[in-house]
Amino acid sequence: MQLQVVTTSLVVGLLAVGALGAYLTTSIRDGVFDQRLEEILMESARSTEQAQAQFDSATAGTGTQVQQLLNDMLPRLRTSGAGSREVFLWRPENSTASAAVIDLTTAPALNGLVSPQMREQAVRGEGQVWQSVAIPEDPGAEVSGVVPGIVVGSLVEVPLAGPFELYYVYSLKGEAETLGFIQRILGAGGITLVGMLGIITWITTRQVVQPVRNAALVAERLADGHLDERLTVRGQDEMATLARSFNEMAASLRDQIRQMEQLSALQRRFVSDVSHELRTPLTTIRMASEVIHSYREGFDPAVRRSAELLALQLDRFEDLLADLLEISRFDAGAATLDAERRDLRDVVDRATDQAVALAERKGVFLSAEYPPEPTIAEFDPRRVELIVRNLLVNAIEHAEDGPVEITIRYDREAVAVTVRDFGVGMTTEAASHVFDRFWRADPARARTSGGTGLGLAISLEDAHLHAGWLEAWGRPGSGACFRLTLPVRAGIVLTSSPLPLVPETSRPRAGGSTGPTTGQVPIVVIDRHGPSALPDLEALTADGGPDRPQEVS
Ligand SMILES: Nc1ncnc2c1ncn2[C@@H]1O[C@H](COP(=O)(O)OP(=O)(O)OP(=O)(O)O)[C@@H](O)[C@H]1O
Ligand SMILES: [Mg+2]
Repeated sequence: MQLQVVTTSLVVGLLAVGALGAYLTTSIRDGVFDQRLEEILMESARSTEQAQAQFDSATAGTGTQVQQLLNDMLPRLRTSGAGSREVFLWRPENSTASAAVIDLTTAPALNGLVSPQMREQAVRGEGQVWQSVAIPEDPGAEVSGVVPGIVVGSLVEVPLAGPFELYYVYSLKGEAETLGFIQRILGAGGITLVGMLGIITWITTRQVVQPVRNAALVAERLADGHLDERLTVRGQDEMATLARSFNEMAASLRDQIRQMEQLSALQRRFVSDVSHELRTPLTTIRMASEVIHSYREGFDPAVRRSAELLALQLDRFEDLLADLLEISRFDAGAATLDAERRDLRDVVDRATDQAVALAERKGVFLSAEYPPEPTIAEFDPRRVELIVRNLLVNAIEHAEDGPVEITIRYDREAVAVTVRDFGVGMTTEAASHVFDRFWRADPARARTSGGTGLGLAISLEDAHLHAGWLEAWGRPGSGACFRLTLPVRAGIVLTSSPLPLVPETSRPRAGGSTGPTTGQVPIVVIDRHGPSALPDLEALTADGGPDRPQEVS
């Protein structure tokens, strides 16, 4: 900004000084020329009058005497002016006078300066005529500089010889030198002025820009979390006021952030404490409920139903409590990763085995496509199993009798598993919220299926713990796809996934597309060897798909 202001003022200053200089030079030159011309015209008119008076009073009788008279007159005319000038005394070309008198000139080399037109005007007796000329500085030389000059001509009456052309050649060398000097002074003055303008602008903008720069720096530090960073307040000017207001704003921001941090820590502690405290009474209730549940056959139907409901709701309660404890462990930064080298296919198998019962109940067809070779990576099997199980349970619950497809692939850097269903699906907006805590697209559904909306939030934390990705895609009516990508080894930063998130087809895979109809026993196919047209290893390293994560941290 400082450079921009200085450049602008320099350019504007240069233009202004240039225009002013040009105007001043022209005015001075015209003024000097006009004044000098006036002097020259007056001086030459006076000289001509004096010469005419001398001619009139001369008593020359012969041509020789007239020639002598002219010869005497010439040097006098040359020096009678204020400065030196050259004088030409020429007999007009068409003169018919009797006395043969030859032309006289004090500088024969300059004869060419008098143009024929000027001579014609002078001979016509139009009084005093003048013309601007360029006088060679060294008339003898081939290449010579020129100085400006003025030629003034008039007609004088010489006894016996008749009318004679009288020319004076004045040099304006002195004036030209003065003008050059003034131009140099103006140029130097202009450059000094522009230089000073640049320096003044630099200093002034620096005074304004420096505090703004400091403020930007401090704002950056504040944004980086250094909440105690402040601006230095100097003096009482506008900048000091700005700095004071800035500091007040920063202090108020810091207070609010600290307050919120305290509040949030308090909330986390509260959730964690309450969850812990609830565990003991819940264990007692659970034991009592199991006793009641085991005697349910002896109860009348209404009481038996209550005993069953009690056991069911206790299950949900326990799940919720476990989720809350897990979340509070993440919040407290106490979650640890027990990573080991494992085959992802085994872990996904275990998760699938746990979901099979639910799939059967819901009439959902499960199909899986695994690579034929071991899909080894470093991960925490317990956490990954939980993630996949949650994805599977979600998919089965939202599959609407359609199939659910599990796919595993790997490349040099990552292993990935996708869980795809063809059920209710979700909007892009919903896909960006599924990882939020307690978020459910349809809270009414949760009441029937028992979801609390914490499953994906925990899964995402688990994926992050592995430096992995958990992403969601969905389209209403076309189903949803969740992709978990984990680095093969700790320390690898993921750049792509071996599997696409946005499915290539919106229809179920061949074989699974028909799926079981309601009422039929679902078929669970775990295809260990995958389809015959499995891509080769090189192809597997290609990027997972055009979309980037809709992951919400
Ligand atoms: N495959 C899916 N298709 C459509 N919506 C889904 C799918 N998976 C998740 N969702 C939506 O995301 C919400 C959050 O899922 P999440 O697993 O976090 O919670 P939940 O399944 O409701 O409860 P739980 O904590 O028991 O897992 C779900 O309630 C549902 O609305
Ligand atoms: Mg869930």
